[in-house]
Amino acid sequence: MNKNIIITGASRGIGRELAKIHLLNGNNVLAISRNAEKLEELKMFENNSQFRFLSLDLADYNSLNQITQAIQDWNKVDVLYNNAGLLVNKPFAEITESDIDYSIDVNYKGPFRLIQLILDKTDFNSHIVNITTMGAVQGSLKFPGLGVYSSSKAGLVTLTELLAQEFNENQPRINCIALGAVQTEMLEEAFPGYIAPISAEETAEYLYNFGLNGHRYQNGKVIQLSTTTP
Ligand SMILES: NC(=O)c1ccc[n+]([C@@H]2O[C@H](COP(=O)([O-])OP(=O)(O)OC[C@H]3O[C@@H](n4cnc5c(N)ncnc54)[C@H](OP(=O)(O)O)[C@@H]3O)[C@@H](O)[C@H]2O)c1
Repeated sequence: MNKNIIITGASRGIGRELAKIHLLNGNNVLAISRNAEKLEELKMFENNSQFRFLSLDLADYNSLNQITQAIQDWNKVDVLYNNAGLLVNKPFAEITESDIDYSIDVNYKGPFRLIQLILDKTDFNSHIVNITTMGAVQGSLKFPGLGVYSSSKAGLVTLTELLAQEFNENQPRINCIALGAVQTEMLEEAFPGYIAPISAEETAEYLYNFGLNGHRYQNGKVIQLSTTTP
């Protein structure tokens, strides 16, 4: 049976690869990000699956309501990947109010709202996968310049642990994946020339399996997906 999958940040990087692998394996995908043209390209990967997309800015709180309409004909959401992210790399003193607001909106408030919006289409066999960074994990190595990025992503860690407690047994399972460096445009823009030990394709392959099966084994967990970051 085709699964119904929502992926934010599907226009490039890890999210694009994740959308691709789900579509190729016959799952229905709702892809969300700002860049409609890039999202539309994913249609070519349909394979007995159904692709749809929503072009919106996760920082525009009210526009997120469109998601309800976009999945009206789905009786269930099997996996929500809160994958979109915004990385600001600036010395602490130079971070502006709009950097702070936008980072929190995209990295925390948007994912929070999406979970609320899809909740009535989920059950105990649905899985919410929040994507955060190793830098958001307490006690991990921290990188100067990522003050607003890592701390805005840290909210997802606590939210994951909390919702796993608050949701009852008929509600979805929820986990958080803390990624180390992955070779994507985001990494290249923030740290030009840095070579990550893992590709977007490899990460998507892990997330594909984890999204479909991980909730049978784990709930409320923060899983560190990193071979290098202590
Ligand atoms: N790559 C790494 O080394 C690394 C490490 C740790 C954690 N992560 C996390 O992994 C996730 C994927 O990262 P990536 O490397 O694949 O990043 P990426 O290549 O920069 O892709 C980010 C995606 O998020 C979307 N996005 C950004 N701002 C948005 C907004 N305001 N509204 C809607 N969508 C928005 C972008 O689409 P549009 O531009 O079309 O909106 C894009 O599809 C992120 O959450 C990131 O923080 C990545």
